[in-house]
Amino acid sequence: MDKFSIEGPSRIRGEVEISGSKNSSLPILAATLLFNKPVVIKNLPRVKDINTMINLLRSLGSKIILSKDRRIAKIHNKTKLKTFASYSLVKTMRGSILVLGPLISKYYKSKISLPGGCLIGARPINYHLDSLKKLGMSYVLKDGYIIAKSKGKLKGTTIKFPKLTVGATENSIIAACLAKGTTILKNCAIEPEIKDLTNFLNSAGAKISWIGRTCKIVGINTLNPTEYSVMADRIEAGTFCVAATLAKGNLKISNFDPKIINTEMGLLKKFGAKIKVHKEKIFIKGPEKIRFIKKIKTKEYPGVATDLQSQIMVLMCKANGKGSITENIFENRFMHVAELRRLGAKIDVKNNQAHIYGNTKFIGAELMSSDLRASVSLVLAAMVSKGKSIINRIYHLDRGYENIEHKLKKIGVKIKRIKQ
Ligand code: EPU
Repeated sequence: MDKFSIEGPSRIRGEVEISGSKNSSLPILAATLLFNKPVVIKNLPRVKDINTMINLLRSLGSKIILSKDRRIAKIHNKTKLKTFASYSLVKTMRGSILVLGPLISKYYKSKISLPGGCLIGARPINYHLDSLKKLGMSYVLKDGYIIAKSKGKLKGTTIKFPKLTVGATENSIIAACLAKGTTILKNCAIEPEIKDLTNFLNSAGAKISWIGRTCKIVGINTLNPTEYSVMADRIEAGTFCVAATLAKGNLKISNFDPKIINTEMGLLKKFGAKIKVHKEKIFIKGPEKIRFIKKIKTKEYPGVATDLQSQIMVLMCKANGKGSITENIFENRFMHVAELRRLGAKIDVKNNQAHIYGNTKFIGAELMSSDLRASVSLVLAAMVSKGKSIINRIYHLDRGYENIEHKLKKIGVKIKRIKQ
């Protein structure tokens, strides 16, 4: 298992180009199962979760040609696909559940392994199943599998999600595309990645429209050929914005629409960052002294992203006062706290709230990655620690950050991958 060695403290400057969004690419790739005609998906990030989804689609029989740089996938499924997704494929990535909606919608049956628990929370899939059931899917859970079928085409209906959920909204939208009649989904999550998915489907002739948190999908018979470029990754962009704020940085962040992280940029300004935006670019300068913010709460979009919570916590450790973060999306997303404490952070956790004492002088140490976003917070903290840190199990980072060590090295971080 590879490790990172990071020598701090760093002061960062230069330019970072943002890659395609992982959490947009995953549902878009899953949705290609609905197509018989050729589809081209561009701007895929070169991260492990995308390889996992491609392998899953190929295991279903999907014909995918990847460009040499793996950023473009040409997919043309002329024949019927398989509908079985095994445990060995699904267990490595919860996003695999996104193939259920398209398979049931197109092939009227599917057997998919139930995704297991996850370090950041139980992450059940009840809302995916409930919503697909309302569209006409029936299912049983047996031996760790969802065995699902439908009597022919799914049927459009009105569904109100009891809770905002990104994945269940995506699965339902994809499934409803080829359903008979009109589906109205109410109380939908409206994360930009979901809008990217619906833009993609509409580019192929789907009839999807939005009013606030209501999504209307008029079923069609077949999707047309299309070429689509995935949006840039807002969590990667947000992570680099935090890095600049943290390390007295001076960064130009390009290839990215700044509007979609307005909320987080507002927070970073309160921490003292100076930010200017220009079309597809963010210019951000970190302060000499990081100001503190009393209370931050993660919330569904357009609230503060849970996927940026651990990174923001590192900023709070370095801020000049005490603050708290309330994690409202996942019940166990403070895995990074114990590791940040090993670098010297003073953080108390009570239920879903962390109290961070600020003014931390981080000292390098050996650390363990747990999940994707927890791991990147350790990289940020190591970057501003005095001395050397070793971060173990960085395969978590490789799941969702493209070439992170190259991007960081380019802007002045002393980071090395130790291959093992
Ligand atoms: N939930 C249920 N039942 C369900 C679905 C969700 O109880 O059927 C709960 C979850 O356990 C969680 C909350 O509802 O507590 C929200 O979950 P949601 O469905 O919105 O999340 P997701 O679709 O599983 C996606 C991203 C996550 C991101 C969340 C929230 C992908 C592949 N994953 O997960 O990304 O944190 O939305 O924005 O898009 C990451 O990239 O590191 C990551 C974890």
